[in-house]
Amino acid sequence: MSSVNATIQLLTREQAESAALSRAAGQSTCSTELASGPWEYDAAEAARGVPAYGPGASSADIAPASTPRQGEIPAEYKQASDAELDRRILAAKEALGDRAVILGHFYQRDEVVKYADFVGDSFQLANAALTRPEAEAIIFCGVHFMAETADILSTDRQAVILPNLAAGCSMADMADIDSVQDCWEQLEEIYGTAPDADGRLPVIPVTYMNSSAALKAFCGEHGGIVCTSSNAATVLEWAFERGQRVLFFPDQHLGRNTAKAMGVPLEHMPLWNPRKDLGGNSEATLEEAEVILWQGFCSVHKRFTVAQIEKARQDHPGVTVIVHPECPMEVVDAADSAGSTDHIRKAVAAATEPTTFAIGTEINMVNRLAAEYPQHTIFCLDPVICPCSTMYRIHPAYLAWVLEELVQGRVVNQIVVDDAVQQGARVALERMLAARP
Ligand code: 13P
Ligand code: SF4
Repeated sequence: MSSVNATIQLLTREQAESAALSRAAGQSTCSTELASGPWEYDAAEAARGVPAYGPGASSADIAPASTPRQGEIPAEYKQASDAELDRRILAAKEALGDRAVILGHFYQRDEVVKYADFVGDSFQLANAALTRPEAEAIIFCGVHFMAETADILSTDRQAVILPNLAAGCSMADMADIDSVQDCWEQLEEIYGTAPDADGRLPVIPVTYMNSSAALKAFCGEHGGIVCTSSNAATVLEWAFERGQRVLFFPDQHLGRNTAKAMGVPLEHMPLWNPRKDLGGNSEATLEEAEVILWQGFCSVHKRFTVAQIEKARQDHPGVTVIVHPECPMEVVDAADSAGSTDHIRKAVAAATEPTTFAIGTEINMVNRLAAEYPQHTIFCLDPVICPCSTMYRIHPAYLAWVLEELVQGRVVNQIVVDDAVQQGARVALERMLAARP
């Protein structure tokens, strides 16, 4: 099985041309440019002074001005061969021993995952960070919100490092604290702040793990909680025990898919557009709302379609289709099952007979599953190779750089969540860690 790097380079000229056409038409698309070193984007961004997510599914998403950018890394890392980077990463890891722990999200490229002490979904990695209190440095090969979470849950003497600061998440950036606060004030005007006869508050804010620390703090301070894709149903139940309705951000799809599976009618799930008054809803609609869904989405998972599922079923009779709940509702409904990255991994691992799986999630993870389980036929529902462009910003060159700096006693690219935000965010995260089905 070729790595995503190699696969991207194998895109045909026609595909590259059609990608360029879609880009010109303003559509989100993939690009062969992804195969180059991410430092080229980092440098281009620095020169333009405008942050961007880089080529990939989220290329058409607007990065807020506050999105962190990555400065230049020393030329020796950009110029190093794969073999040299491998030797240097292993040597630095060896020199650091238990002082450093490397966490790798399932969506990271193989070239990075192979150095990780823990590989997992965002929930597992949040817990993994807690199991290594002796490590002085947590190197998070994932995206910014995950590193922030690790900083919140880790001890004061631990430094959390994100090898490339430009590894953000376009979905997380779709809800910012000012817009959420503004929404909250409008909801308070409609619902008031007093609990009902059963002691349930008018609204409970629930934020997906894929959000800034400031939003997690907001939830902590307003009786709310964090969820991940592996515990969203448990968390919504927790919220409904304490509130009459839920404000769910930033991912409308995870919110809708989870609430729908719990029996909440679609007409009681209005969408909140932060650029419109009352989120674009009437007061009457909001009065009836059970879950108010923020208008955010993941550009990677938005690519999956019912037509792709139909084609997979036609081409591979008996295929099992599994998708991530960040996919649109119609796609989740048409699939055989939906769940977090860990759910997908477990479903494949549990198959005792050779099975054909069509999977709707990020390509690095799908390719890795295909390599790990050669007895099965495993392919990505989306025929165009389109990794999460921000996850993709973590390249072994950055990992080598942060590790070697650590060996020299220097901490670079530390993610620090300020104390006031930490407090509230920790409350919301601890509620999540304590919420059990
Ligand atoms: P998981 O919580 O399943 O790891 O997913 C995180 C993510 O970013 C999915 O797009
Ligand atoms: Fe964010 Fe989507 Fe990438 Fe996950 S896959 S990190 S939600 S942009």
